[in-house]
Amino acid sequence: MIKLFNKVNEFKEYRKSLTSKSIGLVPTMGNLHSGHLSLISQSALENEVTIVTIFVNPLQFGPNEDFDKYPRTLEQDIQKIESLSIDRDILILSPSDPKEIYPDNFSTTISIKGLTENLCGASRPGHFDGVTTVVYQLFKIAAPKTAYFGQKDFQQQLVIKKMVNDLDLPVEVKTMPIVREESGLAKSSRNQYLSDQQILEALELNQTLNKISDILTNQTYLDASIDLNSLLEPIIKDSRWEYLEILDSENLQEITPKTNSAVILGALKIGSTRLIDNQVTKIQYAR
Ligand code: PAJ
Repeated sequence: MIKLFNKVNEFKEYRKSLTSKSIGLVPTMGNLHSGHLSLISQSALENEVTIVTIFVNPLQFGPNEDFDKYPRTLEQDIQKIESLSIDRDILILSPSDPKEIYPDNFSTTISIKGLTENLCGASRPGHFDGVTTVVYQLFKIAAPKTAYFGQKDFQQQLVIKKMVNDLDLPVEVKTMPIVREESGLAKSSRNQYLSDQQILEALELNQTLNKISDILTNQTYLDASIDLNSLLEPIIKDSRWEYLEILDSENLQEITPKTNSAVILGALKIGSTRLIDNQVTKIQYAR
């Protein structure tokens, strides 16, 4: 059964009848693609009831970002969920108005220090405050046992895990693998802003991450510096690249001799569209 709610109060009333059930939560901004659907399928595999939220959260968009043009496609989103033919209950919460999530005079911000200053946090000031604040609200409304996030937004899932840990929230956060097009391009609602020509240009993002990952698997981090520098040199000069970094995957800080696993993260601007991708790689610091 799929049930749609536009009002948070009606949803909360219904949620009360589910006290004995295991609940999975998949927060989204809609315009669902197979990346989102993989999270929904995983939740439905592991929980009696899955709550999918569809809410384009104004707090996480900067003043010059794509909040207004962000695709809102509720009808198609529902159809895509239906086409999964899941035989467990799915509740879709798609608040009709931001006030459903942020009532008048709402003035609280959840802000995490440390993980949010670099990468997307540096290029999108305030973005992660918007994400943690909305996800906190959604955790409170949905009260899930488990919440599912995508590795596609690597920094985001670490920030959410930090919030859950710091505030001791009773939610387990699971991170699911990146779903890609056959070409390697990570699925994203923003891919549809791209022309055919731009899609070809966008492949450089994933291809560059793969090249770095190959270097890091075949050499120690210290030995790899010559190959890495020659690969990074043209990228540093290329203004389309907002960032390209190799960091410790546990804390997004610099690689140290103690780092076990690295993450290569990139943000590439194609025209006015900003795409992100990442790849986790085992690392050996030195011989
Ligand atoms: P949105 O971009 O709609 O993504 C919803 C979830 O789907 C996120 O956890 C994201 O990491 C995951 N996802 C997106 N593309 C994916 C892909 N190619 N493979 C696997 N998972 C993918 O992220 C947000 O919305 C918002 O910030 C939100 C958490 C809902 C808060 O507003």
